[in-house]
Amino acid sequence: METLKAILTRRSIRKFTGKNIPEEIITKLLESAMYAPSARNTQPWHFIVINQRVILDKLPHVHPYAEMCYEASLAILVCGDTNIENLEGYIAVNCAAATQNILLTAHDLGLGSVWLGVYPRKERMEPLSKLFNLPQNIIPVSLVALGYPNEQINMPGRFKLERIHFNKW
Ligand SMILES: Cc1cc2nc3c(=O)[nH]c(=O)nc-3n(C[C@H](O)[C@H](O)[C@H](O)COP(=O)(O)O)c2cc1C
Repeated sequence: METLKAILTRRSIRKFTGKNIPEEIITKLLESAMYAPSARNTQPWHFIVINQRVILDKLPHVHPYAEMCYEASLAILVCGDTNIENLEGYIAVNCAAATQNILLTAHDLGLGSVWLGVYPRKERMEPLSKLFNLPQNIIPVSLVALGYPNEQINMPGRFKLERIHFNKW
């Protein structure tokens, strides 16, 4: 798919068919995540791939808006490593760039996905860290639920001329 088309037509998908996602597609999602830009090219990310039903079903218990994980075939917890990047703000934006790459690649490959916010909400970070036994230096930043889409959402109008400022505010 052409890049601009992928960016404009990607939507958050929260209904999935339950069909299994092949391993080579999971690898492509993670490869695209690792090609995201990062400050000083530190690439401070780690990815927890969740494809076991029993663990996917635990996610709605540790995240208040993750009900779709009961239907999702896969989830990816994008984490940042404070041993690699010590500025938490940079960890968050670097992992956000990686997360967006996952969403766009998923769309390109015919999958649906939705970004579930984790960082900086302690009440989501703490139970997720506990569930996955994350070491002290690993911060969970975002959770992505994925699967083959079982809903179609049309492209909304979002272009706002009044948000664009040329050369001055
Ligand atoms: C930081 C962040 C956190 C989000 N958290 C959630 C969430 O907890 N649950 C959810 O269903 N969607 C979540 N979303 C998805 C947004 O609701 C969605 O991107 C927004 O409504 C725009 O729709 P679109 O993705 O279809 O363009 C999140 C998105 C971002 C970027």
